[in-house]
Amino acid sequence: MKILAIYGSPKKQGITATIVDTILDSVDETHQVEKIYLYDREFHDCIGCSDADTIHREKFCTFDDWFREEIIPSINAADVLIISSPVYMGQITGKLKTMFDRWHTYITPEYSIRILPGKKYIAVTASGAPEDVYKYVSDYLTGWLSDFFKMGKIAALHVGGMVDSNSLKPDNPVLQQAKEIGEGI
Ligand SMILES: Cc1cc2nc3c(=O)[nH]c(=O)nc-3n(C[C@H](O)[C@H](O)[C@H](O)COP(=O)(O)O)c2cc1C
Repeated sequence: MKILAIYGSPKKQGITATIVDTILDSVDETHQVEKIYLYDREFHDCIGCSDADTIHREKFCTFDDWFREEIIPSINAADVLIISSPVYMGQITGKLKTMFDRWHTYITPEYSIRILPGKKYIAVTASGAPEDVYKYVSDYLTGWLSDFFKMGKIAALHVGGMVDSNSLKPDNPVLQQAKEIGEGI
């Protein structure tokens, strides 16, 4: 099975990355794991060409950039996507949102979804504020991934009270949950 982790935080040792890496450390070694850190490189914003019938069908996107040449092929090949983001100003990070805008390429001219249905996903989010304040960010992610893009949810983890990278203590239950989720893939 191919597992693709898409990191939506600029912090590679941060809270969400630590939770994702705990999941990945626990997966069976027969699985193939790929990591994409969205803050490593630039990619275009979606400009809403909405050309599903021609550009999307032929080459996925009008922009010849990292997203089209490497991220899209990795998503298409993956069986499981792990998508993570800290809460920034009450939402997922801008970089992750920019990537989702470009997922417009997965919407067909008939308004069905191509390629993504049947894939599975895990959503990981973290906030400085207590968990219940920003759980809606996790719900936003799962709403789009499950209801709109028709992917199967394995789990959605949201942890609050993570004011900085030192806030996640080894005995935090979310790490045990992450380990069990990884073992279950
Ligand atoms: C630019 C910025 C905006 C943030 N906005 C919020 C916010 O709106 N609500 C909140 O609870 N925490 C906010 N935080 C705190 C982060 O969500 C929190 O520290 C999170 O655990 C960081 O995860 P990471 O280490 O994976 O990047 C913000 C942090 C930064 C740097």
